[in-house]
Amino acid sequence: MTQLLNGNRLAIEIKKEISKEIDKNIRNKKNRIPHLGIILLGNNSSSITYVNSKIKECKNLGIRSTLVHLTVEISELELLKEIQKMNENSLIDGFIIQLPIPKHINTDNIILAINPKKDVDGFHPENFGKMSLNMKTFLPATALGILVLLERYKIKISGKNTVVIGRSRIVGLPISILMSRKNYLGNSTVTLTHSYTKNIENYTKNADIIIISVGIPGFLTGKMIKKGSIIIDVGINKVKNKKKIILKGDVDFNSVYGKASYLTPVPGGVGPMTRIMLIKNILIAAALNNK
Ligand code: GUN
Repeated sequence: MTQLLNGNRLAIEIKKEISKEIDKNIRNKKNRIPHLGIILLGNNSSSITYVNSKIKECKNLGIRSTLVHLTVEISELELLKEIQKMNENSLIDGFIIQLPIPKHINTDNIILAINPKKDVDGFHPENFGKMSLNMKTFLPATALGILVLLERYKIKISGKNTVVIGRSRIVGLPISILMSRKNYLGNSTVTLTHSYTKNIENYTKNADIIIISVGIPGFLTGKMIKKGSIIIDVGINKVKNKKKIILKGDVDFNSVYGKASYLTPVPGGVGPMTRIMLIKNILIAAALNNK
């Protein structure tokens, strides 16, 4: 029996909690409404979808958002100026630059330019370093979403063998750090695998928990996993199915379903958790500004 981890349902539950928190700490106290800034470059259809859903999420919760939509041809210098404007705009509590950004711009330079106090993605090295050292900071939304999903479903990760597939700054790297940290949401034994890992099934077959984020539809198959393992699918791939575009995860759902004990569906698993964790980070940033 495989239980699906319903991120949609959980996100709705958490949104209700957040809404109460906003009423209590912001509306009732007549504090300034939290405000998220988003910088988006170009017209990548996935990025536009993600950004629109983040804006919608803010709107539903009565949080302000401002989108700065720039052309894909913008120079690095021009983009740095836009980031500076966000840094200096006292009405914006936190902001994100939707990734990926065009190849002619150095992503590291862009992330380094964000004021760490407004870095609600938690990608700035100051925040990433604090996260690694178990210090208080903004935690990257997807990784945090996975931890909260596991926690709310009462899935223990302490002492378990976790295999992470993919080492991106958005998912693989932060989740591998968070799950191995010494605290109540961590204490897992983590192996971080990637495109240079040889015989990856030697790792996945021994894993109690697998978290995959590689952008390859159906990469992880039932044959590669242990019976009863917990599978977290972070992939969102657009694939053609009988002339229709559908979303497919990095997990081969049909062969894993029935063998895993828990599995996140795509869509409706990790995705909604990511969006809600970004909102949590904006509230933290806004609370710091209201002090
Ligand atoms: N692209 C995909 N996921 C993310 C995210 O969490 N933050 C940003 N900034 N870009 C992304």
